[in-house]
Amino acid sequence: MHLFRSVAVSALVAVAVASPLGVPHSVHEKRSEAATGWARRDVLDRRAILPMKIGLAQSNVDQGWNWLKEVSVPTSSKYGQHWSAKDIAEAFAPSNETVDAAKNWLTMAGISESRIKQSQGLNWLEFDATVDEAEELLKTKYHVYEHEATGQPHVACDEYSIPTHLKEHIDLVYPTVHFDAKIKSRDDGVELEKRDGNFGHGRGPRGPGGGPWGGPGGGWRMPYHHRPTNDLANCDVHITPDCLRALYRFPVNYRANPKNSFGIVEYTPEAYVPSDLDLFFANFSQRSIGERPIFDSIDGGVNQQTNMSFNFNGESDLDLEYSMTLVYPQPVTLYQVGDLVEGASFNNFLDAIDASYCSYDGGDDPTQDAKYPDPYGGYQGPENCGGFAATKLISTSYAYNEADLTPFYEQRQCHEYMKLGMMGVSVLYSSGDYGVAGNGGQCITSPVGAVNATYNNGTSGRFNPSFPGTCPYITSVGATQVKNNTNIVTALATGTQPEEACETVIYSGGGFSNVFPLPEYQANAVHHWFADYPPPYGPDRFNNSQQTRGLPDMSANGANYVIAIDGNFSLVYGTSASTPTTGSILTLINQARLDKGKSSIGFINPVIYAHPEILNDITEGGNQGCGTPGFESAPGWDPVTGLGTPNYPKMLKLWVDELN
Ligand SMILES: *[C@@H]1O[C@H](CO)[C@@H](O)[C@H](O)[C@H]1NC(C)=O
Ligand SMILES: *[C@@H]1O[C@H](CO)[C@@H](O)[C@H](O)[C@H]1NC(C)=O
Ligand SMILES: *[C@@H]1O[C@H](CO)[C@@H](O)[C@H](O)[C@H]1NC(C)=O
Ligand SMILES: *[C@@H]1O[C@H](CO)[C@@H](O)[C@H](O)[C@H]1NC(C)=O
Ligand SMILES: *[C@@H]1O[C@H](CO)[C@@H](O)[C@H](O)[C@H]1NC(C)=O
Ligand SMILES: *[C@@H]1O[C@H](CO)[C@@H](O)[C@H](O)[C@H]1NC(C)=O
Ligand SMILES: *[C@@H]1O[C@H](CO)[C@@H](O)[C@H](O)[C@H]1NC(C)=O
Ligand SMILES: *[C@@H]1O[C@H](CO)[C@@H](O)[C@H](O)[C@H]1NC(C)=O
Repeated sequence: MHLFRSVAVSALVAVAVASPLGVPHSVHEKRSEAATGWARRDVLDRRAILPMKIGLAQSNVDQGWNWLKEVSVPTSSKYGQHWSAKDIAEAFAPSNETVDAAKNWLTMAGISESRIKQSQGLNWLEFDATVDEAEELLKTKYHVYEHEATGQPHVACDEYSIPTHLKEHIDLVYPTVHFDAKIKSRDDGVELEKRDGNFGHGRGPRGPGGGPWGGPGGGWRMPYHHRPTNDLANCDVHITPDCLRALYRFPVNYRANPKNSFGIVEYTPEAYVPSDLDLFFANFSQRSIGERPIFDSIDGGVNQQTNMSFNFNGESDLDLEYSMTLVYPQPVTLYQVGDLVEGASFNNFLDAIDASYCSYDGGDDPTQDAKYPDPYGGYQGPENCGGFAATKLISTSYAYNEADLTPFYEQRQCHEYMKLGMMGVSVLYSSGDYGVAGNGGQCITSPVGAVNATYNNGTSGRFNPSFPGTCPYITSVGATQVKNNTNIVTALATGTQPEEACETVIYSGGGFSNVFPLPEYQANAVHHWFADYPPPYGPDRFNNSQQTRGLPDMSANGANYVIAIDGNFSLVYGTSASTPTTGSILTLINQARLDKGKSSIGFINPVIYAHPEILNDITEGGNQGCGTPGFESAPGWDPVTGLGTPNYPKMLKLWVDELN
C-alpha cells in the first residue's frame, strides 16, 4: 500500500538524464478497469523516492508447461518425479541477454550500475528512483490515489512505456499501474444474519481497488438452532464431517505421514478462535480437542483476537474446524499472511514459500506492502522472502476478479503456480460464490480490454470469472449441495447421485477466462461441453471461442456447513467450504502415497481430466449471475461443478495402486 517514503528536501539531488532520443517506446501495461474505490489525488510529491523493481522475463517459460506435463500427466514416464526449488530457480533464470539489455536501458537513462541490484532469485532489477527519474524512464506521470473509505494512500500511474526492443525482456515494472492492494475473502459476502450493524466496517479495502464487494457483509451464514448432530439423515439441511465422509466415501483417518501437512492460507485480520475449534471438536472430533494448527506467521501474520465477529472469524474457523477434523492426526499448517496494518496479497505468500519468486531482502511488491519493517507501525521484522516450506497441498479461499488485475501480473503469478506444480505442490483456490458473476455479484459492463472499464451491480453485463481460478496451473473448486429432502445414505446405497450444483445462498463460481488460453489437459472436456450443451450466450457475455480456460475443475459440497463461530454454532455456505474439504481429501491421498514411498500428487488437473471416473459427475443445477441463469451442470465437465465431486476410493486406487 505504502510505497513511497519522504526524504529531506536537502538530501535530494536528482539529475534526470533524458533517455536517448530516437529510441522508440511503447505502452507496456495499462489498467483496463478503473480502480474502484480509489480517488486520484495530487501528482506525486517530487521528494518521494520510489523503490523501483523491474521484473525480468525469465527464460524457458515456454518450456515450463512441458516440464510440468512430464511430472503430472498420468501416462508420462516421469510422472511424480518433481523438481527441487534450486533446479527450478536455475532453469528459469533470465538469460544474460535479458539482464544486459535491461541494465543497459537503465544506465543509458542515467541510473548508474552501482545503484542497481539483481535479486537473489535473479529475476528482478531493483533501484531507488526519484519521481522525475521514474517518470522519465517510463514516460508516465505518477499520482497519489486515496482509498475512499480508509484514506490510505497509494502511488500509481495509469499506464507506462518501455523501449519497444525491451518488450520481450521485461514482464512488468513496479510501482506502476497495479492496485492489488488487499484481497477479499470469499466470506465477505452479503450478511444474512445481522448481529451487529457495524460488521465489516473499519476493515480496510476488501479487494484490489477496495471496491464495495460484499459491502458491510459478514459472510454467507444462516442461523442454526439444532443440537449439533452427526446424524446422516439430515445432510440435506446440515453438513457435518460425517456427512462429507459419507458423501465422498473417505474414512476417519488414524494415521499421519511425517512428510505430509495440509496448508491453509489466511490473510490477516481474518483469524481463528481457539475456543471455537474446541467447541466444534467437542461435538464432532473429540480426539482433536486442544489441537491447533502449526502456525506460520508470514510478514507479521497474527491470529488477532481483538476484533471478533463472523466477518473476522468465519473463514478461518470454517477452514480449520473442517480440515483439522478430516485429516487428523495429520497436521494442518496455517499460513497466516500479513500484519494488521497493511495486510498482504498472494504474492507475499508466494514470496515466503519460494525465495526465487521474491525480489530482494526487505523488498516486495511495493503496490501492496511497505518495505518491512513496516514504517507505518505494523510488523517490525524483516519481510519474509523464502524460509517457509510449502506443504504438499495448499488451499486458499480468497480471490480476485480476473478483471481486477492486469494480464501481465496474472500471467506472472500463474507461472509461479506452474513452478509449485513442478515441485509437487497442489494449489487449490475457491472458484467464487456468485455463479458467473464476480466478487460481490458484480459483472463487467465494458468490452474486453476497454480502457477504464467498470463493473455494475450484477443485473446485466459480462460474466466475471475469478483469479487465480482462471490460471490453468491451479485447481479451481466449485460448490455443490445435497438435493432437498434427500437422504444421502439411501441415495448412495441405490447408486443415485445425491448432489447438484449449489443454489442455496450461493452459486458455484464458474465460466471462462478472458486472459488464459485453454489448457491442453482441458481441451477435450471443454469442446465436448460446447458441442453437447451449447450455452445460450454470445461473446457479449463471455469468451465463447472455446479457446480459453474454463473453471472450475472440480467441486465439493458447499452448503449448510455446521461450524462453531464466536461461541455458537452456525450454518455457512460457499466455495470457502468446498475448497478445504477437497483439500482434506486430497491430503489423505497424499498421505497414502507418501506411506508407499511415492511422491505427492502435485498438480492434479492432468490426472483428473484424464480420469474423470475418480470424480462423481454432477449433472444438475446452474450458476446464475449477471441477470442470466448462468451455465447448467451437465454430464461430463461443465463450468458450474467442473468434473464433479471427489470419489475417495477411486482416487485412492488410481493414485496409490496405479500411478507411479
Ligand atoms: C551469464 O553471465 C554469468 C555472469 O556474468 C556468467 O557466469 C555465465 O557464464 C553467463 N552465461 C552465459 C550462457 O553466457
Ligand atoms: C479492531 O478493533 C479495534 C478496537 O475496537 C479498532 O480500533 C480497529 O479499527 C478494529 N480493526 C479492524 C481491522 O476493524
Ligand atoms: C456441542 O455443542 C453444544 C452447543 O451447541 C454444547 O453445548 C455442547 O457442550 C457441545 N457438546 C460437547 C460434547 O461438548
Ligand atoms: C481513463 O482514465 C484516465 C485516468 O483516470 C483519464 O485520463 C481518461 O480520460 C479516461 N479515459 C476514458 C475513455 O474515460
Ligand atoms: C442495478 O442496476 C440497474 C441498471 O443500472 C438498475 O436498474 C437496478 O435497479 C439496479 N439494481 C439494484 C438492486 O441496485
Ligand atoms: C429446498 O428447500 C429450501 C428450504 O427447505 C427451499 O427454500 C427451496 O425452495 C427448496 N428448493 C427446491 C428446489 O425445492
Ligand atoms: C477470446 O479468446 C480468444 C483466445 O484467447 C481470443 O483470440 C479472442 O479475441 C477472445 N474473444 C474476445 C471477444 O475477447
Ligand atoms: C449464542 O447464542 C445464544 C442463544 O442463541 C445467545 O444468547 C448468545 O448471545 C450467543 N452468543 C454469542 C457469542 O453470539
